[in-house]
Amino acid sequence: MTTAADAYTTRALTAQTWDDFAALVEENNGVWGGCWCMGFHPEGVRGATSAQDNQAAKRAHVDGGTCHQLLVYADDRCIGWCQYGPPAELPNISNRKTYDKELDRLPDWRIGCIFTGKGHRGHGVARAAVAAALAQIETAGGGVVEAYPEQSADRPAQRGAYFHTGPESLYSQFGFERVRRIA
Ligand SMILES: CC(C)(COP(=O)(O)OP(=O)(O)OC[C@H]1O[C@@H](n2cnc3c(N)ncnc32)[C@H](O)[C@@H]1OP(=O)(O)O)[C@@H](O)C(=O)NCCC(=O)NCCS
Repeated sequence: MTTAADAYTTRALTAQTWDDFAALVEENNGVWGGCWCMGFHPEGVRGATSAQDNQAAKRAHVDGGTCHQLLVYADDRCIGWCQYGPPAELPNISNRKTYDKELDRLPDWRIGCIFTGKGHRGHGVARAAVAAALAQIETAGGGVVEAYPEQSADRPAQRGAYFHTGPESLYSQFGFERVRRIA
């Protein structure tokens, strides 16, 4: 059987694939006006004075090997990504205070930002990105993986724009189970 996911390939975000990533970010107005996927990294986006600061900070993480991110390609065009990494690499989850209050142990890995370019949504790109991230995590030794998605059940249809960290239904397809509510 051929599925939409068969049409995609994935590559790690590295110095070699940076231009593909940058093209996708620029096509989408910097993503949220210029975050350049920095929100989960230790610097966050609050201290940055411009989108260029975020771009430079992101590039520094890529060059320094402190960024794990899978890019999804249709042919040779990058159309989406899934960011993941150990908690020290991605400390800035939303509602961190509530999260820390009942924390018994940190996960081995976090899935942070997930993004599919406008015009490519609803065709399995995010699913391909998460599948590739989980495969990489398994290759790296596996462990407990946390994601922080938005609940999608019992809500009216939401535009993808509101799912910064992906919808819960995306992760349940991979066997993730909700442990607790932090927002
Ligand atoms: C949320 C988002 C990542 C989904 O990407 P996508 O490639 O369209 O998702 P997929 O087609 O792979 O969908 C996989 C599953 O996710 C869920 N899903 C995707 N979009 C959804 C939506 N708008 N509402 C509810 N569920 C949704 C579904 O369960 C879907 O499975 P199904 O097709 O079998 O029903 C995308 O809409 C997006 O990038 N939004 C912007 C997020 C953002 O701003 N990220 C940056 C944060 S800094």
